[in-house]
Amino acid sequence: MHYYFITGTSRGIGKALAERALEEANVQVVGFSRQQRIEHPHYTHHSLDLSNVDSLGSTAETIFTKLPNAERIVLINNAGTLGDVKYFGSLEDSKIDQLFSVNVTAPAILMNHFIRAYQTAEAERIIINVSSGVSRYPVDGWSGYCASKAALDMLSEVAALELKEQNVQHFRVHAVAPGIVDTQMQTSIRDVDEQNFSRLQKFKDYKSEGALDNPQQTADKYFYLINHPTEFQEVRQDVREF
Ligand SMILES: NC(=O)c1ccc[n+]([C@@H]2O[C@H](COP(=O)([O-])OP(=O)(O)OC[C@H]3O[C@@H](n4cnc5c(N)ncnc54)[C@H](OP(=O)(O)O)[C@@H]3O)[C@@H](O)[C@H]2O)c1
Repeated sequence: MHYYFITGTSRGIGKALAERALEEANVQVVGFSRQQRIEHPHYTHHSLDLSNVDSLGSTAETIFTKLPNAERIVLINNAGTLGDVKYFGSLEDSKIDQLFSVNVTAPAILMNHFIRAYQTAEAERIIINVSSGVSRYPVDGWSGYCASKAALDMLSEVAALELKEQNVQHFRVHAVAPGIVDTQMQTSIRDVDEQNFSRLQKFKDYKSEGALDNPQQTADKYFYLINHPTEFQEVRQDVREF
């Protein structure tokens, strides 16, 4: 049996990842987001707000339990938020906190409990953190988003290093940038005020020129990585290079 735990399954890339996983024969998918949009006999949903990080650890303990006949166990930290697109000086403090909770703290807590629960399991184990190209360069108006994705990359690097140090086999950790994908997040990007984001026109052009990938294509690329372990040695990956 293959088990997938995926955050942000109500739309966009996360929904496509869950639906792609559900195409497999022996699979159980557990999804997390505030809204539920998938109904399937092999799908279980937990409606929760990942910014409520205080209760996330105890929830994770009840979810990452012993899994019968597990051959593969996968955690995909996909849920993310762009946050407030504004320059420093104009940001709302509470929104800074909310962004880092969803994009960094929640994935770190889920990784912690996932590794605790399955470190000694015999199944193949994979953690995939959905990163972004902007983890590596600054974008004006996106301070929290860029910084949160850089943090997610480093959480992934450190977890992979620790598993290697402990000689844990068949347990991979990747931070994978998805490219530019036609989701609600891209709609939100095109809706911001240009004075808070100098690259607005470029993102409008991506859409009008048909340069966005669809979420299903993106999900297929993530599954290519999942299914071809020997081709992906580095922790940080970008689907545009596959
Ligand atoms: N689209 C792109 O071009 C692109 C590029 C680079 C990286 N990414 C990354 O890809 C991932 C998915 O993005 P997307 O484009 O698919 O975005 P999206 O369409 O906005 O979907 C985001 C998902 O995250 C969930 N989510 C957001 N806040 C949440 C919260 N507080 N609690 C629980 N779930 C929450 C949403 O569910 P609810 O609203 O139902 O809670 C939704 O299912 C993100 O990590 C994003 O940073 C996207």
